[in-house]
Amino acid sequence: MPITDLLQRTLSDLRISVTDRCNLRCNYCMPAELYDGHRFLPKQEILDFEEIARLARLFATLGVRKLRLTGGEPLLRRELDRLVRALAKIPGIDDLALTTNGLLLPAQAAGLRAAGLRRLTVSLDALDDAIFARMNGRGVPVAEVLAGLAAAEAAGFTRIKINAVIERGVNDGEVLRLAEHFRGTGHVLRFIEFMDVGESNGWKMERVVSATEIARLIDARFPLEPLERERDPETALRYRYRDGAGEIGIIASVTRPFCGACSRARLSAKGELFTCLFAASGFDLRALLRGGATDLEILRALEQRWGAREDRYSERRAEAAARGESLPKVEMSYIGG
Ligand code: GTP
Ligand code: 5AD
Ligand code: SF4
Ligand code: SF4
Repeated sequence: MPITDLLQRTLSDLRISVTDRCNLRCNYCMPAELYDGHRFLPKQEILDFEEIARLARLFATLGVRKLRLTGGEPLLRRELDRLVRALAKIPGIDDLALTTNGLLLPAQAAGLRAAGLRRLTVSLDALDDAIFARMNGRGVPVAEVLAGLAAAEAAGFTRIKINAVIERGVNDGEVLRLAEHFRGTGHVLRFIEFMDVGESNGWKMERVVSATEIARLIDARFPLEPLERERDPETALRYRYRDGAGEIGIIASVTRPFCGACSRARLSAKGELFTCLFAASGFDLRALLRGGATDLEILRALEQRWGAREDRYSERRAEAAARGESLPKVEMSYIGG
């Protein structure tokens, strides 16, 4: 039975963070200065696969159709393909996707594909090694991500999405180069406006390169035309190259927030339900799971939390910015982007 929140938004997507750890230290997400000494969650604190699959089944009965695995870096979770296999079997789930930095794909792409993973998103912010190394905080070269992408293609993934977060003064010079590289490959490059997640990434509005600016820049070189959103709760504005070389997306959560149709719930690695990427706190589902709650009790709790939801952080941020104010924040890496 589909359920709706206080703003009449249904619940159709669940983003599941399977680990809070990452093998990179992207400056906009887990900057090394802050995360190198960070105490990550011990194993017993994170949900096991049975717990995740049970929750996913319950979410599916409430109308969730799409699952996305995130992290941290989801491929760091041991035997992730076992989880994928369990999730792929859930009745009602018709989209199963994963967002990764790509480094571990050479070892895992084929197994994930065989387990039933349908869609893949790989993050890559630059094609210049020096810029990418600086952004990823670990000195990792671009070739490692491209090798992951090649492994994913070889495993049969098509129309892979490539996510590039654009920061002014850091990698805005890479926009055209990325566009040129991925045009005609069948993959969908998506530019993401730098978001103000947490207090740690030094976010300032001046560092956001707006969707309008990105689209203009590309259009001047490779003419674009806008496309309709593929489905309503989609994050990206879509464009196609007029010469037929494929499609790009721009995720404009800062300058054109999309809270109005936001049907995404998030499950953190330790089993908290967040009803917004920027929610200051989550609801502890792990306590219910481990306290012996019945399916019905968990369903009631989910219905109650979603029913009380009125989050629209990105829109409120835009409204506050227009008044010259700012809003308190949480660390996004904690709830998986
Ligand atoms: P598709 O299923 O392919 O549309 O993927 P997606 O865009 O939902 O997921 P992905 O993990 O690739 O995220 C792309 C960017 O959008 C990241 O920067 C996310 O943090 C951001 N994002 C995803 N969902 C939301 C959301 O609900 N609100 C905001 N503000 N940003 C989001
Ligand atoms: N702003 C925009 N996107 C971000 N991501 C992580 N941190 C930020 C941020 N501050 C993106 C990653 C990945 C996705 C899950 O979230 O690049 O592609
Ligand atoms: Fe890791 Fe992804 Fe965050 Fe980069 S953006 S630090 S790869 S979780
Ligand atoms: Fe949804 Fe919150 Fe993102 Fe708005 S800011 S789109 S409500 S997750």
